[in-house]
Amino acid sequence: MTKKDLINSGKVKSVFTTDNDDEVLIEFRDDMTAGDGERKEVMSKKGSYNAVISSKIFKVLEDGGVKTQFINLIKTNEILATKLEMIPIEVIIRNIATGSLVRTYPIEDGTPLNPPIVQMDFKDDEFHDPMLNDSIIKALGIATQEEIDTLKDLAFKVNDILKEFFDDAGIILVDFKIEFGKDKDGNIVLGDEISPDSCRLWDKETFEMLDKELFRKGEDDKVMEAYVEVYNRIIPDEDKAKFDL
Ligand code: C5P
Repeated sequence: MTKKDLINSGKVKSVFTTDNDDEVLIEFRDDMTAGDGERKEVMSKKGSYNAVISSKIFKVLEDGGVKTQFINLIKTNEILATKLEMIPIEVIIRNIATGSLVRTYPIEDGTPLNPPIVQMDFKDDEFHDPMLNDSIIKALGIATQEEIDTLKDLAFKVNDILKEFFDDAGIILVDFKIEFGKDKDGNIVLGDEISPDSCRLWDKETFEMLDKELFRKGEDDKVMEAYVEVYNRIIPDEDKAKFDL
């Protein structure tokens, strides 16, 4: 496998072509951003921790029957993945009310949500990722009703698998954001990443935050400690020995 041309550089990841037209290489950089990219810092080794954590989570999801983009971890900060045409929707699942939900609606921070909430936001910085609904998605021509239903079903399935996975590691999966794309046969496949950048994770005993919310709050010095804690809890020791992180 050869890393070739840069085709897309996002806020924290870069995507490269490879010698196989059906595959891409995703590089996880050490950049960290918040507020539509207004605040930007570099956190040493964050890219590697997120790539390893995301790889582990995607493997767990594959084992649970969810089709994902993940093929292989090439280096600690590089993933080989199936090339997808990404759907510009951020699918968010919320198990506990916090963040933008409690800022937008009259619901108390920390309220358990049974059943969980599924929310879809338009992935577009220019429009500041506004919330979508089925009618808007169809009017914008982003997805059909059948595809919207598939996205929601898959997101709930991801939630069921990951809630249990994190619970076993002493972590509450509060909420998370995922993205999907279509492979060359038109199948809807889970893409992008699932990491402490894209989830809210709380310690089950202490309710301590173990995710990017620390950065959003300006507690930059605690960020990497939290990411390393998630890594230590979910990556088996025999795998850690391979990574030298
Ligand atoms: O900020 P908000 O409460 O809407 O975030 C919900 C979840 O989605 C959080 O886990 C957050 O980390 C994630 N998210 C994300 N990328 C965005 C917006 C939200 O990963 N652009």
